[in-house]
Amino acid sequence: ASPKAKHYLLFILFFTGPDGEHNWSSNYPFCGGAFQSPIDFQTQLLRYDPNLPPIQVQNYNLATKEQLTLSNNGHSVQLSLPSHMYISSLPHRYSAAQLHFHWGSSNLLTGSEHTVNGKRFAGEMHVVHFNSDKYPNISMAVDKHDGLAVLGVFIEIGEFNPAFDKFFKYMNGIKYRDQKIQVTAFNIHALLPARLDEYYRYDGSLTTPPCYPSVLWTVFRRPVTISRKQFLALATALYASYAQESTTVPLHGNYRKPQIADNRVVLVSFKDGLHGILSAASPFQRKQVIQKLLVGDLADLADEGLYQLLPKLSPQPGKDKKLKKTKKQGHWSQATQKKQWSKNKVQSNTAFDTDKGICFVSLEENVMHKLERYHAKGLMVEALREVVFPELNLRSYLYCRSDLDLQTIRKLIQGRSRDEAAELEQSLAEAMLKKMRRQINQHRNPNMKTTIGHPQATIPKDFNSALTYHRPQRAEWED
Ligand SMILES: *[C@@H]1O[C@H](CO)[C@@H](O)[C@H](O)[C@H]1NC(C)=O
Ligand SMILES: *[C@@H]1O[C@H](CO)[C@@H](O)[C@H](O)[C@H]1NC(C)=O
Ligand SMILES: [Zn+2]
Repeated sequence: ASPKAKHYLLFILFFTGPDGEHNWSSNYPFCGGAFQSPIDFQTQLLRYDPNLPPIQVQNYNLATKEQLTLSNNGHSVQLSLPSHMYISSLPHRYSAAQLHFHWGSSNLLTGSEHTVNGKRFAGEMHVVHFNSDKYPNISMAVDKHDGLAVLGVFIEIGEFNPAFDKFFKYMNGIKYRDQKIQVTAFNIHALLPARLDEYYRYDGSLTTPPCYPSVLWTVFRRPVTISRKQFLALATALYASYAQESTTVPLHGNYRKPQIADNRVVLVSFKDGLHGILSAASPFQRKQVIQKLLVGDLADLADEGLYQLLPKLSPQPGKDKKLKKTKKQGHWSQATQKKQWSKNKVQSNTAFDTDKGICFVSLEENVMHKLERYHAKGLMVEALREVVFPELNLRSYLYCRSDLDLQTIRKLIQGRSRDEAAELEQSLAEAMLKKMRRQINQHRNPNMKTTIGHPQATIPKDFNSALTYHRPQRAEWED
């Protein structure tokens, strides 16, 4: 079969058989890899981030003299967008390329890709942008880690939406695969929900082959509505097959099933309606701290912001019956980790706050597992410094925000001058102890001021023991 026919067959399998997408990775390895989309936005994955600004888009109100190409590509309906439209509220300029849809069918009105605590919406629109600061066009950007930014919009059935009719009304002109027509441009902004300040943000992928993990996802919290009639026009007008084929294959149900969140968290720009949601710390502060740990002045660091990045301490570790300390120094399996995190999110009152270090710890675990396999554990620090952390700074670091793990800090400063490192460790131990005391006191008597003596008096000689005392890596959940 020609490559084109093979590609075509793959999509037919996807749309006609429920198992099609399971086999994507045979031909497209990224589909079976990391950072895949869509995901289910489960409450325990969410972190409120007060630093996420409202989404701002520029030049979305297109002049009617512009023409846009509406096409049926066999797996969706797509509207081309000019690259002078762009998102201006991300670290880079992301210029528009196209928008397209995912939807259910006439007898299954649910077909969004992302879901919220398992709830699937009627459909979902994706407005695809590429990083035009770094790449000349979308083809060059599509497989780069910072290449794409997609705005996702949930679609619900409700009131008629005139903005969508600007091109929905031409759907019969593109019934078959590879058909295209030109439509008059309009205000694309009108397709977005009214509130651009409330959204989910995470690192993910294209949801169709080749599934490159290149997408910075922004999915708006509030859906837009289209009428039932509009939805049915979308769900019944199109075919995945070519016009000249004798058997027609309807184009519907073109959504991918939820992928595992793995080590990701989802940042959210809103916290109302989310009871007890955890907050993320400032990424820029952490980035500065990491850079200082690697190459900066460690003495300076001891006086600045580092303590704010330290994990929260709990007054009585081990009191929670669900927790037990293990003497084993082994690493968690990913499954155990995931279970541990999700349980921890459900029980907000646990003795250990393992919210800290969620990304760093897991990355370390992953790297360690790989290195163990090659009996090369000694390369851990080097790997972290040379590979993992620079990559974090570029990619997840800004978006997958987590506090620094003490273990990570210690790894980062290995290799620094002994005196400097010792000074920082000493000052860290003091800070930890102070924090611990304050919290113990607050726990015992919230109204009483601290009465325990100066922390200097009882700093443990061994910094390691001070740190391991409250490190959650030693804890496991009983099942
Ligand atoms: C998956 O795809 C491969 C390669 O195209 C093919 O050989 C195999 O038969 C497919 N498996 C299933 C279950 O369809
Ligand atoms: C994208 O840019 C690259 C590099 O400049 C160029 O070779 C390629 O032809 C461009 N592709 C398209 C579709 O314009
Ligand atoms: Zn899509």
